Amino acid sequence: MIEPGVATAFTDGITHINLDESSTLDGEQQIATFKSASASIYDLSASMTVKGELWNWGHHNPEHLAEIEARLPGFSTYGTDTFSEQSYYLALRDIPKGLEGCAGKAILEVGCGVGEGLNFLSRLVPDARMTGLDLAPKAVARANATLARGDELRFVQGDAEALPFEDASVDVLINVESSHAYPNLKGFLQEAARVLRPGGVLSHIDVYTTQRLRAMRAIQAELPGLEWISDNDISDQVRAAVRQRMAPGSRFRRNLDKQRMNRFVRMLATNNLVMTFGGPFAGYREPAVVKLLNRLKVLPPAGSLPMRSYRHQVAVRS
Ligand SMILES: C[S@@+](CC[C@H](N)C(=O)[O-])C[C@H]1O[C@@H](n2cnc3c(N)ncnc32)[C@H](O)[C@@H]1O
Repeated sequence: MIEPGVATAFTDGITHINLDESSTLDGEQQIATFKSASASIYDLSASMTVKGELWNWGHHNPEHLAEIEARLPGFSTYGTDTFSEQSYYLALRDIPKGLEGCAGKAILEVGCGVGEGLNFLSRLVPDARMTGLDLAPKAVARANATLARGDELRFVQGDAEALPFEDASVDVLINVESSHAYPNLKGFLQEAARVLRPGGVLSHIDVYTTQRLRAMRAIQAELPGLEWISDNDISDQVRAAVRQRMAPGSRFRRNLDKQRMNRFVRMLATNNLVMTFGGPFAGYREPAVVKLLNRLKVLPPAGSLPMRSYRHQVAVRS
Protein backbone atom coordinates (compact mmCIF):
# COMPACT_ATOMS: atom_id res chain seq x y z
CA MET A 1 0.00 0.00 0.00
CA ILE A 2 0.97 3.63 -0.51
CA GLU A 3 1.22 5.84 2.58
CA PRO A 4 -1.03 8.94 2.35
CA GLY A 5 2.10 11.16 2.67
CA VAL A 6 3.62 9.51 -0.40
CA ALA A 7 0.49 10.03 -2.50
CA THR A 8 0.36 13.68 -1.39
CA ALA A 9 4.07 14.24 -2.20
CA PHE A 10 3.42 12.83 -5.70
CA THR A 11 0.27 14.84 -6.50
CA ASP A 12 1.71 18.05 -4.99
CA GLY A 13 4.91 17.56 -7.00
CA ILE A 14 3.09 16.90 -10.29
CA THR A 15 0.90 19.95 -9.68
CA HIS A 16 3.90 22.15 -8.94
CA ILE A 17 5.86 20.90 -11.96
CA ASN A 18 2.98 21.47 -14.38
CA LEU A 19 1.48 24.67 -13.03
CA ASP A 20 4.57 26.60 -11.95
CA GLU A 21 6.34 28.00 -15.01
CA SER A 22 9.78 27.77 -13.45
CA SER A 23 9.25 23.97 -13.60
CA THR A 24 11.39 23.35 -10.57
CA LEU A 25 10.52 22.12 -7.14
CA ASP A 26 12.19 24.07 -4.36
CA GLY A 27 15.40 22.46 -3.23
CA GLU A 28 17.16 19.11 -3.46
CA GLN A 29 15.22 17.56 -0.59
CA GLN A 30 11.83 18.35 -2.12
CA ILE A 31 12.93 16.96 -5.49
CA ALA A 32 14.26 13.78 -3.86
CA THR A 33 11.02 13.32 -1.91
CA PHE A 34 8.94 13.79 -5.07
CA LYS A 35 11.03 11.33 -7.13
CA SER A 36 10.93 8.73 -4.37
CA ALA A 37 7.12 9.11 -4.17
CA SER A 38 6.85 8.82 -7.97
CA ALA A 39 8.96 5.63 -7.99
CA SER A 40 6.84 4.11 -5.16
CA ILE A 41 3.60 4.83 -6.99
CA TYR A 42 4.77 3.36 -10.31
CA ASP A 43 6.31 0.38 -8.46
CA LEU A 44 2.89 -0.32 -6.96
CA SER A 45 1.30 0.03 -10.40
CA ALA A 46 3.88 -2.44 -11.77
CA SER A 47 2.77 -5.02 -9.21
CA MET A 48 -0.89 -4.62 -10.24
CA THR A 49 -0.55 -4.26 -14.01
CA VAL A 50 -1.81 -7.11 -16.16
CA LYS A 51 0.70 -8.50 -18.69
CA GLY A 52 0.50 -6.62 -21.98
CA GLU A 53 -0.87 -3.41 -20.43
CA LEU A 54 0.72 -0.03 -21.09
CA TRP A 55 0.44 3.15 -19.06
CA ASN A 56 -0.41 5.96 -21.46
CA TRP A 57 -3.71 7.57 -22.48
CA GLY A 58 -3.41 6.30 -26.04
CA HIS A 59 -3.70 7.71 -29.54
CA HIS A 60 -6.11 6.74 -32.29
CA ASN A 61 -5.64 7.12 -36.01
CA PRO A 62 -7.46 4.47 -38.11
CA GLU A 63 -4.79 4.77 -40.85
CA HIS A 64 -2.02 4.01 -38.37
CA LEU A 65 -3.98 1.08 -36.97
CA ALA A 66 -4.37 -0.36 -40.48
CA GLU A 67 -0.60 0.00 -40.99
CA ILE A 68 0.11 -1.83 -37.72
CA GLU A 69 -2.32 -4.59 -38.73
CA ALA A 70 -0.53 -4.92 -42.07
CA ARG A 71 2.78 -5.40 -40.24
CA LEU A 72 1.39 -7.58 -37.42
CA PRO A 73 -1.70 -9.40 -38.75
CA GLY A 74 -4.23 -10.08 -36.00
CA PHE A 75 -2.64 -7.46 -33.72
CA SER A 76 -5.95 -5.86 -32.67
CA THR A 77 -7.69 -9.17 -32.04
CA TYR A 78 -5.81 -10.29 -28.95
CA GLY A 79 -5.50 -8.73 -25.51
CA THR A 80 -5.30 -5.02 -26.41
CA ASP A 81 -7.56 -2.13 -27.34
CA THR A 82 -4.53 -0.94 -29.43
CA PHE A 83 -4.62 2.73 -28.33
CA SER A 84 -1.51 2.81 -26.12
CA GLU A 85 0.48 0.87 -28.72
CA GLN A 86 -0.66 3.42 -31.32
CA SER A 87 1.16 6.11 -29.27
CA TYR A 88 4.36 4.10 -29.61
CA TYR A 89 3.78 3.51 -33.31
CA LEU A 90 3.48 7.26 -33.80
CA ALA A 91 6.77 7.81 -31.93
CA LEU A 92 8.75 5.95 -34.63
CA ARG A 93 6.42 6.44 -37.61
CA ASP A 94 6.50 10.23 -37.72
CA ILE A 95 10.25 10.83 -37.53
CA PRO A 96 12.71 11.31 -40.42
CA LYS A 97 13.20 7.88 -42.11
CA GLY A 98 10.31 6.41 -40.05
CA LEU A 99 10.28 2.85 -38.72
CA GLU A 100 12.39 1.53 -41.60
CA GLY A 101 15.19 3.94 -40.65
CA CYS A 102 15.29 2.43 -37.14
CA ALA A 103 16.41 -1.03 -38.29
CA GLY A 104 19.73 -1.99 -36.73
CA LYS A 105 19.88 1.21 -34.64
CA ALA A 106 20.34 1.93 -30.92
CA ILE A 107 16.95 3.00 -29.59
CA LEU A 108 16.45 4.31 -26.08
CA GLU A 109 13.13 4.87 -24.34
CA VAL A 110 13.25 7.12 -21.29
CA GLY A 111 10.28 6.50 -18.95
CA CYS A 112 9.46 3.03 -20.29
CA GLY A 113 7.23 1.89 -17.39
CA VAL A 114 6.88 -1.92 -17.47
CA GLY A 115 8.43 -2.03 -20.95
CA GLU A 116 5.42 -3.16 -22.97
CA GLY A 117 5.59 -0.23 -25.40
CA LEU A 118 9.21 -0.90 -26.30
CA ASN A 119 8.45 -4.63 -26.53
CA PHE A 120 5.70 -3.80 -29.04
CA LEU A 121 8.15 -1.69 -31.11
CA SER A 122 10.75 -4.47 -31.00
CA ARG A 123 8.29 -6.59 -33.03
CA LEU A 124 8.11 -3.90 -35.73
CA VAL A 125 11.78 -2.94 -36.10
CA PRO A 126 14.25 -5.64 -37.13
CA ASP A 127 17.68 -5.96 -35.49
CA ALA A 128 17.47 -2.81 -33.38
CA ARG A 129 19.15 -2.62 -29.96
CA MET A 130 16.44 -1.32 -27.67
CA THR A 131 16.97 -0.08 -24.11
CA GLY A 132 14.25 1.09 -21.77
CA LEU A 133 15.00 3.23 -18.73
CA ASP A 134 12.66 4.03 -15.87
CA LEU A 135 12.87 5.59 -12.42
CA ALA A 136 10.68 2.91 -10.78
CA PRO A 137 12.92 -0.08 -9.86
CA LYS A 138 10.13 -2.65 -9.66
CA ALA A 139 8.75 -1.64 -13.06
CA VAL A 140 12.25 -2.19 -14.48
CA ALA A 141 12.68 -5.51 -12.63
CA ARG A 142 9.36 -6.69 -14.02
CA ALA A 143 10.29 -5.61 -17.56
CA ASN A 144 13.60 -7.48 -17.29
CA ALA A 145 11.90 -10.59 -15.88
CA THR A 146 9.10 -10.72 -18.43
CA LEU A 147 10.29 -9.06 -21.66
CA ALA A 148 14.08 -8.63 -21.89
CA ARG A 149 15.92 -10.47 -24.71
CA GLY A 150 19.69 -9.90 -24.52
CA ASP A 151 20.95 -6.86 -26.47
CA GLU A 152 17.76 -6.75 -28.49
CA LEU A 153 15.65 -5.51 -25.57
CA ARG A 154 16.95 -4.59 -22.13
CA PHE A 155 15.83 -2.40 -19.26
CA VAL A 156 17.75 -0.32 -16.74
CA GLN A 157 16.76 1.72 -13.72
CA GLY A 158 17.73 5.39 -13.85
CA ASP A 159 16.69 9.01 -13.91
CA ALA A 160 15.76 10.93 -17.07
CA GLU A 161 17.69 13.90 -15.72
CA ALA A 162 20.98 11.95 -15.34
CA LEU A 163 21.06 9.27 -18.02
CA PRO A 164 23.55 6.43 -17.37
CA PHE A 165 24.71 6.28 -21.00
CA GLU A 166 27.77 7.40 -22.96
CA ASP A 167 27.78 10.61 -25.00
CA ALA A 168 26.62 10.11 -28.62
CA SER A 169 25.61 6.47 -28.07
CA VAL A 170 21.91 6.59 -29.10
CA ASP A 171 20.34 6.89 -32.58
CA VAL A 172 16.71 7.42 -31.57
CA LEU A 173 15.42 8.48 -28.14
CA ILE A 174 11.69 8.19 -27.49
CA ASN A 175 9.79 9.59 -24.54
CA VAL A 176 6.09 8.76 -24.17
CA GLU A 177 3.88 10.48 -21.57
CA SER A 178 6.61 10.66 -18.97
CA SER A 179 8.27 14.09 -19.01
CA HIS A 180 5.33 15.84 -17.28
CA ALA A 181 6.74 14.17 -14.14
CA TYR A 182 10.29 15.54 -14.49
CA PRO A 183 11.09 18.43 -12.14
CA ASN A 184 13.92 19.51 -14.46
CA LEU A 185 12.64 19.32 -18.05
CA LYS A 186 15.63 21.27 -19.33
CA GLY A 187 17.97 18.81 -17.59
CA PHE A 188 16.26 15.91 -19.37
CA LEU A 189 16.50 17.60 -22.78
CA GLN A 190 20.18 18.40 -22.17
CA GLU A 191 20.75 14.74 -21.35
CA ALA A 192 18.85 13.71 -24.51
CA ALA A 193 21.12 15.99 -26.58
CA ARG A 194 24.21 14.56 -24.87
CA VAL A 195 23.42 10.86 -25.48
CA LEU A 196 22.15 11.30 -29.06
CA ARG A 197 24.61 10.93 -31.93
CA PRO A 198 24.80 13.85 -34.40
CA GLY A 199 21.83 13.29 -36.71
CA GLY A 200 20.08 11.23 -34.01
CA VAL A 201 16.40 11.87 -33.31
CA LEU A 202 14.41 12.76 -30.20
CA SER A 203 10.72 11.77 -30.47
CA HIS A 204 8.85 13.34 -27.58
CA ILE A 205 5.17 12.73 -26.81
CA ASP A 206 3.40 14.26 -23.80
CA VAL A 207 0.50 16.23 -22.40
CA TYR A 208 0.81 19.90 -21.47
CA THR A 209 -0.75 22.51 -19.27
CA THR A 210 -0.54 26.06 -20.66
CA GLN A 211 2.28 26.84 -18.23
CA ARG A 212 4.32 23.72 -18.98
CA LEU A 213 4.07 24.27 -22.75
CA ARG A 214 5.31 27.85 -22.29
CA ALA A 215 8.25 26.50 -20.25
CA MET A 216 8.95 23.86 -22.94
CA ARG A 217 8.94 26.48 -25.69
CA ALA A 218 11.38 28.67 -23.74
CA ILE A 219 13.74 25.70 -23.27
CA GLN A 220 13.43 24.71 -26.95
CA ALA A 221 14.35 28.25 -28.03
CA GLU A 222 17.55 28.40 -25.98
CA LEU A 223 18.85 24.81 -25.67
CA PRO A 224 21.78 24.13 -28.02
CA GLY A 225 22.20 20.80 -29.85
CA LEU A 226 18.57 20.02 -30.68
CA GLU A 227 16.95 21.30 -33.86
CA TRP A 228 13.17 21.00 -33.45
CA ILE A 229 11.64 19.92 -36.75
CA SER A 230 7.99 19.30 -35.86
CA ASP A 231 5.44 20.07 -33.16
CA ASN A 232 2.08 18.38 -33.84
CA ASP A 233 -0.96 18.89 -31.66
CA ILE A 234 -2.40 15.36 -31.42
CA SER A 235 -5.08 16.21 -28.83
CA ASP A 236 -7.97 15.10 -31.08
CA GLN A 237 -6.44 11.68 -31.71
CA VAL A 238 -5.74 11.23 -27.98
CA ARG A 239 -9.28 12.29 -27.05
CA ALA A 240 -10.66 9.81 -29.61
CA ALA A 241 -8.60 7.03 -27.98
CA VAL A 242 -9.68 7.94 -24.44
CA ARG A 243 -13.37 8.11 -25.42
CA GLN A 244 -13.32 4.75 -27.21
CA ARG A 245 -11.33 3.11 -24.42
CA MET A 246 -13.82 4.28 -21.77
CA ALA A 247 -17.03 3.69 -23.78
CA PRO A 248 -19.64 1.22 -22.47
CA GLY A 249 -18.85 -2.30 -23.72
CA SER A 250 -15.15 -1.50 -24.36
CA ARG A 251 -12.39 -3.94 -23.38
CA PHE A 252 -11.52 -1.62 -20.49
CA ARG A 253 -15.13 -1.69 -19.20
CA ARG A 254 -15.49 -5.43 -19.70
CA ASN A 255 -12.30 -6.07 -17.70
CA LEU A 256 -13.63 -3.97 -14.84
CA ASP A 257 -17.00 -5.70 -15.02
CA LYS A 258 -15.31 -9.09 -14.55
CA GLN A 259 -13.93 -8.05 -11.15
CA ARG A 260 -16.01 -8.90 -8.12
CA MET A 261 -17.13 -5.73 -6.34
CA ASN A 262 -20.39 -4.08 -5.41
CA ARG A 263 -21.91 -1.43 -7.67
CA PHE A 264 -20.78 1.51 -5.57
CA VAL A 265 -17.16 0.34 -5.33
CA ARG A 266 -17.22 -0.41 -9.08
CA MET A 267 -18.41 3.13 -9.79
CA LEU A 268 -15.55 4.56 -7.64
CA ALA A 269 -12.94 2.25 -9.23
CA THR A 270 -14.15 3.13 -12.73
CA ASN A 271 -14.13 6.83 -11.91
CA ASN A 272 -10.56 6.63 -10.60
CA LEU A 273 -9.30 4.84 -13.69
CA VAL A 274 -11.09 7.20 -16.06
CA MET A 275 -9.63 10.18 -14.17
CA THR A 276 -6.14 8.66 -14.36
CA PHE A 277 -6.28 7.71 -18.04
CA GLY A 278 -7.14 11.07 -19.58
CA GLY A 279 -10.90 11.22 -18.87
CA PRO A 280 -11.04 14.94 -17.97
CA PHE A 281 -8.96 15.79 -21.06
CA ALA A 282 -11.59 13.98 -23.17
CA GLY A 283 -14.52 15.78 -21.50
CA TYR A 284 -15.42 13.26 -18.78
CA ARG A 285 -17.05 14.76 -15.70
CA GLU A 286 -17.09 12.96 -12.34
CA PRO A 287 -20.47 11.69 -11.09
CA ALA A 288 -22.28 14.09 -8.73
CA VAL A 289 -22.03 11.60 -5.86
CA VAL A 290 -18.22 11.56 -6.13
CA LYS A 291 -18.12 15.36 -6.10
CA LEU A 292 -20.35 15.37 -3.03
CA LEU A 293 -18.12 12.84 -1.24
CA ASN A 294 -15.10 15.02 -2.09
CA ARG A 295 -16.84 18.10 -0.68
CA LEU A 296 -17.73 16.21 2.51
CA LYS A 297 -14.07 15.05 2.69
CA VAL A 298 -15.19 11.40 2.77
CA LEU A 299 -13.17 10.76 -0.42
CA PRO A 300 -9.97 12.56 -1.42
CA PRO A 301 -10.36 14.23 -4.82
CA ALA A 302 -8.86 12.15 -7.66
CA GLY A 303 -7.24 15.38 -8.82
CA SER A 304 -6.68 16.33 -12.41
CA LEU A 305 -4.64 19.14 -13.88
CA PRO A 306 -5.98 21.52 -16.55
CA MET A 307 -4.23 19.80 -19.46
CA ARG A 308 -4.60 21.87 -22.64
CA SER A 309 -2.87 19.90 -25.39
CA TYR A 310 -1.22 16.60 -26.14
CA ARG A 311 1.75 16.92 -28.50
CA HIS A 312 4.28 15.01 -30.56
CA GLN A 313 7.48 17.00 -30.91
CA VAL A 314 10.54 15.86 -32.85
CA ALA A 315 14.10 17.17 -32.74
CA VAL A 316 17.28 16.22 -34.60
CA ARG A 317 20.66 16.32 -32.83
CA SER A 318 22.82 18.86 -34.64
C1 LIG B 1 2.49 7.50 -17.41
S1 LIG B 1 3.84 6.39 -17.26
C2 LIG B 1 4.18 6.02 -18.98
C3 LIG B 1 4.99 4.75 -19.12
C4 LIG B 1 5.20 4.29 -20.56
N1 LIG B 1 5.91 5.29 -21.33
C5 LIG B 1 3.89 3.94 -21.23
O1 LIG B 1 3.44 4.71 -22.09
O2 LIG B 1 3.32 2.90 -20.92
C6 LIG B 1 5.19 7.50 -16.82
C7 LIG B 1 6.51 6.75 -16.56
O3 LIG B 1 7.56 7.72 -16.38
C8 LIG B 1 8.42 7.24 -15.37
N2 LIG B 1 9.20 8.35 -14.80
C9 LIG B 1 8.75 9.37 -14.03
N3 LIG B 1 9.78 10.17 -13.68
C10 LIG B 1 10.90 9.64 -14.24
C11 LIG B 1 12.27 10.02 -14.26
N4 LIG B 1 12.71 11.12 -13.59
N5 LIG B 1 13.14 9.25 -14.94
C12 LIG B 1 12.73 8.15 -15.61
N6 LIG B 1 11.44 7.74 -15.62
C13 LIG B 1 10.53 8.48 -14.96
C14 LIG B 1 7.47 6.61 -14.37
O4 LIG B 1 8.13 5.75 -13.46
C15 LIG B 1 6.48 5.90 -15.30
O5 LIG B 1 6.91 4.59 -15.59
